[in-house]
Amino acid sequence: MEELLDKIQKEAIDSLGAIEDEDTLQRWRVQHLGRSSPLMGIFDQLGTLPKEERPVIGRRANEIKLELEAAYQQQSQVMRQIAIEHSLSMDRLDVTLPSRSLTPGRLHPTTKTMRDIYRIFSEMGFQIYLSREVETDELNFQLLNFPPHHPAREMQDSIYVETSKDRGDNPIVMRTHTSPGQIHAMREYTAVNPENPPPVRIILPGMCYRYEQITARSEMQFNQIEGLAVGQDITFGDLKGTLNDFARRMFGQQVRSRFRASHFPFTEPSAEMDIECFVCGGEGCKVCKRTGWLEILGCGMVHPVVLQNGGYDPQRYTGFAFGMGPERIAMLRHRISDIRNFWANDMRFLEQFN
Ligand code: PHE
Repeated sequence: MEELLDKIQKEAIDSLGAIEDEDTLQRWRVQHLGRSSPLMGIFDQLGTLPKEERPVIGRRANEIKLELEAAYQQQSQVMRQIAIEHSLSMDRLDVTLPSRSLTPGRLHPTTKTMRDIYRIFSEMGFQIYLSREVETDELNFQLLNFPPHHPAREMQDSIYVETSKDRGDNPIVMRTHTSPGQIHAMREYTAVNPENPPPVRIILPGMCYRYEQITARSEMQFNQIEGLAVGQDITFGDLKGTLNDFARRMFGQQVRSRFRASHFPFTEPSAEMDIECFVCGGEGCKVCKRTGWLEILGCGMVHPVVLQNGGYDPQRYTGFAFGMGPERIAMLRHRISDIRNFWANDMRFLEQFN
């Protein structure tokens, strides 16, 4: 019996050292330590042995069992180590490979144009004033001198948010232009010192909404940048000087401009400003519709009623205002022929502007 045990031990230990993979190792375990292994057979037979042999054989069999279990653990460790070393040597990181390139984001052409406009007006001392996009009819129209049912409202078909009966003539509307910001700003300035309110020099950028047929030239959602200057002795000359300077800084020192009489209920007199077509140099082409001029903004002297509504005494204060569409200006700068591109989210379009 003891010889048999020695043989079991020797065989098991000898075969273990040669094992190199996990499957074989598991098979070895079943074979040498499993339920039907020779070693377990010895334990089963203990009862049939003569009494004095039982403790000797039992102890010896137990020793071998512990030894084989320890040897199994050790071999399993060794194999894990080998596996790690193998994987380290095979899957070595090659840090010299070129990395995957990231596509950097870029600014939307409208955002870039708007930032250029902010920069130019900041250099002239204008501050940026942010005003809300959802307005009341009163602020969007009435305080700007468009009474209810006034035909001039038809220039600006509106998106009503709330028309409920109890709001009467004052429904909630998505702002159709940035001009209501003039009233918000003037009221904030006059609240500081109603007797002697400080002068205003601001631009008001932001999104406007109109219930409009979408075409190559008009969207129902677009940006505007409003300008407002209020103070003592501000004249139409200041308006022209400021906007001519803006045009030169925006489109180049050579650019020529002109003012055409126009009408807005909230300015008097009112004008539209054109710049000489830089595609044909004023000769007349498709871009300027053969006129030689490109319209860039509406403007005028702030109407006395509007000054009054903002809290400025029209006897003592005057001011000018203007409003431009940065998408339209971006279209002129980059010769974009369809305004719908700005919202189409087509990367092929957006990637062209750096
Ligand atoms: N609010 C006018 C528009 O949307 C533009 C404008 C602003 C004209 C300020 C004059 C003065 O058409």
